[in-house]
Amino acid sequence: MRTILVASSKGGAGKSTVSTNLAAYFAVEGKATAILDADKQKSATHWCEKRAHLESAVLPLDGTRRGWDKSLPEGIQRLVVDAPAGAMGEDLVAFLDMADAVIVPVLPSAIDLEATVPFLNTLVAHPRVKKGKLPVGILANRLKPWTSASQQAVAQLKSWPYPVVGELRDTQAYVLMAALGKSLFDYHSEQIRSHQEDWAPLLRWLKKSL
Ligand SMILES: Nc1ncnc2c1ncn2[C@@H]1O[C@H](COP(=O)(O)OP(=O)(O)OP(=O)(O)O)[C@@H](O)[C@H]1O
Ligand SMILES: [Mg+2]
Repeated sequence: MRTILVASSKGGAGKSTVSTNLAAYFAVEGKATAILDADKQKSATHWCEKRAHLESAVLPLDGTRRGWDKSLPEGIQRLVVDAPAGAMGEDLVAFLDMADAVIVPVLPSAIDLEATVPFLNTLVAHPRVKKGKLPVGILANRLKPWTSASQQAVAQLKSWPYPVVGELRDTQAYVLMAALGKSLFDYHSEQIRSHQEDWAPLLRWLKKSL
């Protein structure tokens, strides 16, 4: 089993959107995939329930319950952990211990960048992150690439000590698909394919890291 933790203490950065789309990518690829939903809001769980009838269903697991680690089903090939807002590194130790890669989504605004720095500082307290054994990637999310706010935010993110592993544009497609239990990887129109291309660098980085 390979485990990807999607985490940021900042609310609304796109953790659940990234977790669900990534899980769908693996499931569409034919991998037995589960989401460990560590958020009491249960956004990812509700999304899984909506796609339960699909061949590329994703199994929802409750990561808010004590003992979740003792009842992981056999045969899961990809596990995506959707962390809750407000959780710092010390709250995520159990997930960091088992993760093979960590994705930190960040929105292109000073408020979001500033809120993410202390979160990253708590991640580096984890021995595997400190020793470089657990790769951490920054994922710029909801970019409007033609705006100077997005351009400046990406430039600033690139000066941080973690790699920027992807740049996802802002599109209503994510909002509409989330409501249906769907993902970008369930559609093939030209417009959706262009947004799938946003994911290519992240998926390449993951392939190397997993
Ligand atoms: N790239 C995107 N383009 C457009 N809308 C997006 C994008 N990413 C996320 N959103 C929207 O932004 C909102 C917040 O995203 P999401 O719920 O994934 O964030 P979160 O980090 O999981 O939030 P929370 O901290 O509450 O768990 C949602 O309405 C989602 O549909
Ligand atoms: Mg969420």
